[in-house]
Amino acid sequence: MDHFHYKKGELFAEEVSLNDVAKEYGTPSYVYSKATLERHAKAYIDSFDLMDGLVCFSVKALSNITILKTLKNAGCGFDIVSGGELHRAIVAGADPRKIIFSGVGKSKAEMEAGINNDILSFNIESGPELDRLANVAEGLNKIAPVAIRFNPNVDAGAHEFTKTGRKSDKFGVSVESAKILIKKCSESDNLKLVGLTCHIGSQIMELQGFQDAAKQALDLLIELDKLNVVLDFIDMGGGLGVNYIGEDTVQPFQLIKSYEEIFSGRKERLILEPGRSISANAGIMLTRVEYKKDNFLIADAAMNDLLRPALYQAHHDVWPVMKTDNPKEKLNIVGPICETGDFLAKDINIVASQNDLLAVKTVGAYGFVMSSNYNSRPRAAEILVDKDKHALIRKREDYAELIALEDKEDD
Ligand code: LLP
Repeated sequence: MDHFHYKKGELFAEEVSLNDVAKEYGTPSYVYSKATLERHAKAYIDSFDLMDGLVCFSVKALSNITILKTLKNAGCGFDIVSGGELHRAIVAGADPRKIIFSGVGKSKAEMEAGINNDILSFNIESGPELDRLANVAEGLNKIAPVAIRFNPNVDAGAHEFTKTGRKSDKFGVSVESAKILIKKCSESDNLKLVGLTCHIGSQIMELQGFQDAAKQALDLLIELDKLNVVLDFIDMGGGLGVNYIGEDTVQPFQLIKSYEEIFSGRKERLILEPGRSISANAGIMLTRVEYKKDNFLIADAAMNDLLRPALYQAHHDVWPVMKTDNPKEKLNIVGPICETGDFLAKDINIVASQNDLLAVKTVGAYGFVMSSNYNSRPRAAEILVDKDKHALIRKREDYAELIALEDKEDD
């Protein structure tokens, strides 16, 4: 459920006309609905019943500082994967005790930053990574909190590139290796084991894969009980899919209920790391049609603004900001970039002509964050709508900013 809807044939974000937004800030622009973000965060937070829960929004999905502040105020912690994301979360005023550091390749500097900020946990994915963390913590004369990410060998997720829970994927360690790493933690003076974690993939539309992974986590917890290993939390990652073009989805309360059934009677806290299911439907991208040519609508947004269609052949619905009764046509929406792969939507039924304003839907996750300056195109603006108000939360880049970091001196 989102807050983008037509009023007398004109598309609104909450109570703000998207025509007005385009007039004020130009296109292409990302527009987010605060009410939708808050609603989705609440859908997770309010669903914990039998277990104490913590929702760590996955910053990689949408990392604008104002958005992070909104989600922090709604009660979220954060799942981060880089020093840059840690920096953003801290600037947004996040409670470091609600920050989880995921990812397979943490650098020494990133580990130091995490330890110095006293984050909740480092989710560790290999023996060498655990050794490095112990060394870094020793150097700082501190104790680093650790959760071991196990790989449950579960095949779930929408696209080959976003499946992460199979044995052949680079993520996590086998259950057997996890036990070895857990033992290593107990032998180190600079590591404290606090949790067990996994994340099986993204845009997952069924409960089965989550349940398979949770059952394996439970088996491991029972084995650890026998060794008197006590953990603070079980972190089941993110991955819940959303409705892009009318798909049936699993709701957060169904996912949490299912985890609570599997972990029934356990004392650990349940941490989740949702990204897409909180922010995807909270964002649209406004773009204007520059030209219509045969069955192509050439828009002013391109693959540098929204990479998902080109990278994953992902489908995003596109709605005209002004509805008309004219007959729909089957059209391709493409951008100005010099690549045939530069498209926003293919063979979509839509009514649109030159200068029309379009809204590309469900781009609040993995939209702006994956944008680039390819073809030297300045990055789009980001706008947050709150009821009848709108605010620029990231200004459109200009040409000076485009070359700001480059050497411009004469030889
Ligand atoms: N936790 C970890 C450790 C992750 O790697 C991810 C996403 C999440 C949580 C959040 O997953 P979500 O709830 O958003 O599914 N760029 C791709 C998606 C990549 C997801 C990467 N990891 C896309 O546009 O579909």
